[in-house]
Amino acid sequence: MREHDVLVIGGGGSGLRAAIAADEAGADVAVISKLHPVRSHTGAAEGGINAALDDEDDWQDHAYETMKGADYVGDAPAIEAFAQEIRREVLQLERWGMAFSREEDGTVAQRPFGGMSYPRTTFAGAETGHHLLHTLYQQVAKRGIEIYDEWFVTNLAVTDHEDPSDRTCHGVVAYDLHTGDVAGFKANRGVVIATGGNGQAFDHTTNATANTGDGMAMAYRAGVPLEDMEYVQFHPTTLPSTGVLITEGVRGEGGILYNTEGERFMFERGYANNVGELASRDVVSRAELTEVSEGRGFDDDHVMLDMRHLGEERILDRLENIVHLAEDFEGVDPLEEPMPVKPGQHYEMGGIETDENGATLIDGLYAAGEAACVSIHGANRLGGNALAELVVFGARAGRSAAGEPPREAALSTGRTPDAEPADTDLPVDPGPSVGADGSDTVAADGGERLVEPDAVIERTVQRERTRIHQLLEGDGERGYASVRDAVQRTMTDHVNVFREREGLEQALEDLKQARRDYREVTVEDSSRSFNYDLIHAIETRNIIDVAESITLGALLRTESRGAHWRKRYQSRDDENWLKHTMIDWNDGRPQVWYKPAVLEGDHGRYEPKERSY
Ligand code: FUM
Repeated sequence: MREHDVLVIGGGGSGLRAAIAADEAGADVAVISKLHPVRSHTGAAEGGINAALDDEDDWQDHAYETMKGADYVGDAPAIEAFAQEIRREVLQLERWGMAFSREEDGTVAQRPFGGMSYPRTTFAGAETGHHLLHTLYQQVAKRGIEIYDEWFVTNLAVTDHEDPSDRTCHGVVAYDLHTGDVAGFKANRGVVIATGGNGQAFDHTTNATANTGDGMAMAYRAGVPLEDMEYVQFHPTTLPSTGVLITEGVRGEGGILYNTEGERFMFERGYANNVGELASRDVVSRAELTEVSEGRGFDDDHVMLDMRHLGEERILDRLENIVHLAEDFEGVDPLEEPMPVKPGQHYEMGGIETDENGATLIDGLYAAGEAACVSIHGANRLGGNALAELVVFGARAGRSAAGEPPREAALSTGRTPDAEPADTDLPVDPGPSVGADGSDTVAADGGERLVEPDAVIERTVQRERTRIHQLLEGDGERGYASVRDAVQRTMTDHVNVFREREGLEQALEDLKQARRDYREVTVEDSSRSFNYDLIHAIETRNIIDVAESITLGALLRTESRGAHWRKRYQSRDDENWLKHTMIDWNDGRPQVWYKPAVLEGDHGRYEPKERSY
């Protein structure tokens, strides 16, 4: 068994930032990552990092606009910590050598992004994530932090106390892609989940194939609540044939959207009279799809994004990557013609419930980045706040896991006295979270209660060996791909930008069928080295779990807020729904409950207002 003080699961931006912080707090840290760190999805982020750097800008405006973007279900203590600390983090990145784009006078350049009243988004061309990831990786390498790359963490080693809040995470179990070995890793101080998002639950997404919600699903099965999963961001400008992202930076620099009538519809059709294309993403995505459904879309499918008027010099200086992406993935030269764009799944606002120090309900278990829900994004994230979040809360989670939380958390985790049960009379009974091994639960299986760390880890290793053996040797006749396809299809058809009850119920039925089918999944490839058939089969179970939690949350939330829009409930209902959806795994099935959004910050209350742009 390998042993470290802190184990960071995931080698993207939040994981690397957590590792650096834990190392600086004096811990012996290791990063365990399914991919080599610089292949992580953070590297695909294009547009930027928001921070109120200018003397004329103010962190309180950043905080307010983040809360407004969130449609008032963000948590103020987290948002205020975020908006204050991101300034220091950006300056730190600059000192670490990050190649930010600059103004003529050498200062870090900032451009407008949606939903903000000030040009607050720092960037490095249209490859900000790539530069961020390499900057952090250099710091990790310089510190000699150990990296287990191409090791896939398949489960958390957690005690099986009946009440999840009594449980402790002692480590993880991981599968070595090079050799096929399954090994235990012990964490003497803490485990940080930093595994990113779950875009692969949908079939038109900007996310990499690796983004399968692994950390969310593992934490959920260990008893940690998932929070606000129904809030899925659909980015308004993705290439229709692949889902490849065309950065909001194009609109930030002045790019325009138009329909088949040649109308700049964001203004001309009144979707956002003040800021047009720079309204927040949920607003722009709905506008585009309305244009298409009312017959003003190209090929009944998309609208056009034009940036030619910016001129070649500016485009190549600030958006060169977009020229290559549009040419390579859509066969369009955006210096000469407009780009076809449509909304695509981009980001999960929800995730593993944490407090603002990254701590979860389970002792010794922390989470950060897109895998976590802290919650600063609420119902809709502002562009440029994701990279910002992952450095701020990656650093906080790393410090906490090392034993040095920044300060006492104002946010609580788990079922506090103000938790409110959902109407559990679900129209559709969700299926149990059954794995190929037939187990209904993961953490509390009614077996012998183990508390001694080595024994907990060893038992988890044995379970994972059995699970993998059954996938490899089982007599089922189904490959993972048909199950994964069915999930992606139903999520895209029914749990997309526009949602209605019948579709959501259909999606839950389809997901239930996917669980049944998953029991028959077997892996044909028996190789021990780089067996991606096996990896994808394991990931598929994670995708099912996160897809179900998204759909359940969406079905029960009978209002429209941020990225969650319901046909029959088209307005925001603050009287009944100013609260977070929580889903945890209990008694062999998901349970839904709610906790209030925390609108009271150190600097006053963020009073919900009408959200217009
Ligand atoms: O449009 C973009 O460049 C994406 C940025 C983000 O999601 O923060």
